[in-house]
Amino acid sequence: MKSPKPTFSPTSITATTNAVSTLLSDYIAQSEANAKAVLQQEEPKIIAEKLALKKLIESGFSSQENIVDFVATYLTHTNHLKNPRYMGHQVAVPQELSGIPDFIHGTINNPGSLYEMGPAPATLEGFMINWMLAKVGWLEDDKLYDFEFTPHRANGVLTHGGSIANLTALTAARAAIAPEAWTEGNPDDLVVLGPANTHYSIGRALSLMGLGKNAFIPVAVDAHEVMDVASLAAVYQQVKSKGKRVMAVVANACATSTGLFDPIEAIADFCQQQQLWFHVDGAHGAVVLMSDKQRFKMKGVEKADSLIWDAHKMMRVPSLCTAVLFKNGAHLLQNFQQKGSYVFHDSKVIGMDTMPYTIECTKSALGTKLFWALALEGESKLTHYVETRFEQALRFYEILSATDDFHCLYRPQTNILCFQYRPDQLNDAQQLELRYALVNHGAFYLTSCEIDGKRYLRVVVMNPHTQASDFVTLIAVIREKAQDLFDL
Ligand SMILES: Cc1ncc(COP(=O)(O)O)c(C=O)c1O
Repeated sequence: MKSPKPTFSPTSITATTNAVSTLLSDYIAQSEANAKAVLQQEEPKIIAEKLALKKLIESGFSSQENIVDFVATYLTHTNHLKNPRYMGHQVAVPQELSGIPDFIHGTINNPGSLYEMGPAPATLEGFMINWMLAKVGWLEDDKLYDFEFTPHRANGVLTHGGSIANLTALTAARAAIAPEAWTEGNPDDLVVLGPANTHYSIGRALSLMGLGKNAFIPVAVDAHEVMDVASLAAVYQQVKSKGKRVMAVVANACATSTGLFDPIEAIADFCQQQQLWFHVDGAHGAVVLMSDKQRFKMKGVEKADSLIWDAHKMMRVPSLCTAVLFKNGAHLLQNFQQKGSYVFHDSKVIGMDTMPYTIECTKSALGTKLFWALALEGESKLTHYVETRFEQALRFYEILSATDDFHCLYRPQTNILCFQYRPDQLNDAQQLELRYALVNHGAFYLTSCEIDGKRYLRVVVMNPHTQASDFVTLIAVIREKAQDLFDL
């Protein structure tokens, strides 16, 4: 039998990574200079063929040049978030050196959930959780090196994304009101209240938990889809009169679609009066807690029971990294009632294992990525980034408001702005068609959403270099595309 061809063995990490670094650094330079389209899409079959996926699986990379060629082709088929005209989803535009913690993790593979499997990653997770708790007001600043996992203090864990974090918070809310549910299944009287535009991961979590999506009872919102607190009280009375128990009230901070905040303090006060669990979905907006100028938008958050905060949105951390935080650490500790003899035991161990308190078993070195984003620039520069992105969205709002063919429904509170082009002439389907025409054109990448049943174009100012001139060009391109597409 013919022996298989020996595969290339990358003996030199330095030479290969240097070559890849050069490619990445050119990629960044070209993207930042807008020298390439933000996105040029091709069918997956074409990309698979260009990358020779089948062949590489069979025979492996043949040389360092082969790796470099592969990465170069791979990079041409990406969405260039580093282009200032990337204004799409709420996905972080990382700093130039943000990939290093992923590189270190990918090389040494020390997961963060079991202390002995990665003392440094676990320490950085504990430290970053403390830092976030301090931002909420749930931990004193001098306790950043307090890594005790006791029920007597606020606590939290990092998870792979906001959806898992919301699920974690909601299971904790259930453990508080119906601890027997873990073993016996759900009682049939639990409901969750919140605005209908809560992120879909909330409804999904309820279905996954076996409560059913109908356990979510929507509270009325205003024309901007912001929760109306008077309606919260009314809905609460209605569900109570039907013999239901409220497992949690959920608020947006901010809403994914609009970037607007629900009135956190008023909702928190209501929940405290009625002794209801208050969960704040701060996946996008909790970052305001870093800014003295912006944190008023989440005033009252310290009265909540749980909060999630995505670092891979506005903190420039590559996906994924989310914190789920609890004011009362006991809620974290009593969330999952399981034993696994190989990891969960009563012997005294050095450090802290977060594994018993996370949905994931093995986790990436999430705290390291988060720490890195802050350490690269220092906290004040990262805060400045957040503040200036919010200011740019406001600038775009002002520019659009000065035209007579664009319509903005609201003044932005974050870096998210929704608008329509000629709503008097273009219907919802045409607004959407316009979005696809812009994306396919490649010069800009933006998204769209529905607010109060109407279709809007949606810009999320994530890139640190996006400025007013990009908005002016976007307006010109929208007008041009609309002319091409529709008989205006
Ligand atoms: C308000 C809100 N909650 C939850 C999520 C889900 O987060 P992830 O994408 O990290 O799972 C998002 C995502 O955009 C969001 O905007």
